[in-house]
Amino acid sequence: MTTTPSSDFATVGTGYAAYSSGGRGRLRHDITARRVLAELGERSARVLDVGCGDGEMVLRLAAAGHHVTGVEKSSGMLTSAADRVAADPEIAGRVTLAEGDVYDLPFEDGAFDAVVCHGVVMYLPDSVAPLAHLARLVAVGGVLSVLTKNQLAVGVREALSGDYASARAQIESGQAASVGNLGITTRGDTPEHLDDLARANGLTPLPWQGVRIFHDHRTDWKPTEEEYREALETEWAASSRSPYRELGRLVHAVARREATA
Ligand SMILES: C[S@@+](CC[C@H](N)C(=O)[O-])C[C@H]1O[C@@H](n2cnc3c(N)ncnc32)[C@H](O)[C@@H]1O
Repeated sequence: MTTTPSSDFATVGTGYAAYSSGGRGRLRHDITARRVLAELGERSARVLDVGCGDGEMVLRLAAAGHHVTGVEKSSGMLTSAADRVAADPEIAGRVTLAEGDVYDLPFEDGAFDAVVCHGVVMYLPDSVAPLAHLARLVAVGGVLSVLTKNQLAVGVREALSGDYASARAQIESGQAASVGNLGITTRGDTPEHLDDLARANGLTPLPWQGVRIFHDHRTDWKPTEEEYREALETEWAASSRSPYRELGRLVHAVARREATA
């Protein structure tokens, strides 16, 4: 199968909201939010979420007391995010939302304690330019959090789902582009490449996580709350440990801008 990456997210419609609130989407948001919040610590931080979609991470980080700016290319997604923020007056005063593009972010260098970009660069032609644009905005002591498709795990979802021909084609070619569950072509990166890009932009890579290791192929997964909690803790434990993390559908690359001596 020959595929070329697309960034036409407007075609997804309501599919993303359904995915995001389902078990598999929750796993992704819970694991990445837990990690970002742990890296930020107790202080109230300035956070930028680029490609914030319908605002899931914006809501979570603002609810934790941080001041969050969400930037989004799709006006439809931005409206969904604005509606969700407006529905929660507790956080609304800490949130700013704006239409914008990862390739043209109108902020000063070092303006944010955390720059978050989750599930975006997999829709873009490559990660080199986006990571450079994101990294420059990270303040000294701050972190960059990038979640994208894990190139190491190509074909795993398809094999576990019984789509062996597609799995074999991907495994044998190692091709990083395939059509995801939302019907849009996605492109993968290796954790090593993301760490290299962080270094190239003056950041120090922190341990990366594999996200959605055991549940990625469970598209009809509808766990009870108790099952979900157990699954989340199991995924969390595996997310930072090899050989499990290499098989995560997504890679969560985190890097810090260290103070220079
Ligand atoms: C899969 S959604 C992820 C949304 C959110 N970050 C999350 O994790 O739930 C990808 C989002 O990236 C946005 N996007 C795509 N290309 C972008 C770009 N060049 N600049 C900013 N946002 C972009 C899309 O409009 C879409 O809302």
